[in-house]
Amino acid sequence: MSDRYAVIGNPIAHSKSPQIHLAFAEATAQDIAYERLLAPADGFAAVVDAFRAQGARGLNITAPFKLDAYAYATDLTEQARWAGAVNAMKFDGDRVLADNFDGVGLVRDVVHNLGCPIKGRRVLVLGAGGATRGLLLPFLQERPAGLWIANRSVERAVELAQRAASRADSDTSVQACDYAALSGAGAFDIVFNATSASQSAQALPVPSTVYAPGCLAYDLVYGKGLTPFLGAARVAGAGQVVDGVGMLVEQAAEAFCWWRGVRPDTRAVIRDLTVPLTS
Ligand code: ATR
Repeated sequence: MSDRYAVIGNPIAHSKSPQIHLAFAEATAQDIAYERLLAPADGFAAVVDAFRAQGARGLNITAPFKLDAYAYATDLTEQARWAGAVNAMKFDGDRVLADNFDGVGLVRDVVHNLGCPIKGRRVLVLGAGGATRGLLLPFLQERPAGLWIANRSVERAVELAQRAASRADSDTSVQACDYAALSGAGAFDIVFNATSASQSAQALPVPSTVYAPGCLAYDLVYGKGLTPFLGAARVAGAGQVVDGVGMLVEQAAEAFCWWRGVRPDTRAVIRDLTVPLTS
């Protein structure tokens, strides 16, 4: 029988994870089955218990269950602990090993696929919620020259920046601010939108001066076309505007490699899932 995996969320019908993992499995000759699990908002543990009882090997976790998965795990990696959230699990008898590959997937997409080094660059992250927390540790490991976190509620940015600074190299300066203060922050080589504003097509009050000529503007959402953030960045002179499709596929590849011990090639899957960035 095939080894069983799934993605769990609510809603879940839209998830691309089965398509991605089955494409990886075919390309690497791995015998797996991969399904979608819909759990009620208060039913994460019961659904996962039942899936494990059927002999399942692993799970991807999407909204709104990344914190439930954190609580369910028996063994958390440093990255999952730091992010405070889990997006992949591996089942080993009674043990539930848990990791979070969102940040490492994003870094791999930026550095490897888009050819945009983070080391020594000025990086701006918009938002200070769960998405930002998940990517800070992998970012810091790349040693940017500056890492700015801007948020509507500045106290959340300050708190995250303090945590990040405690893990930053001496050549990385970590700063927190609100959107108004960005007009005095200079230009950045990479600007990430890690807020949830693009989910509902809301614009952010980001001054055009943050975009260095030719910079990379990256929206972590996927499948929303040209979001207000990406549209504004393009008008302001960003050289490359991209959405989160590469991050989605790369975090899946990290989980697949962790489960199966073989790293799949991601290029064809990213190409198949890419949608044009038009409004
Ligand atoms: P997630 O897990 O998706 O990061 P979250 O923890 O609720 O969700 O964080 C959402 C982020 O998007 C926050 O940084 C939030 O800003 P506040 O902390 O000030 O609420 C940000 N956000 C959402 N909608 C926004 C908007 N319209 N303008 C600016 N920031 C927005």
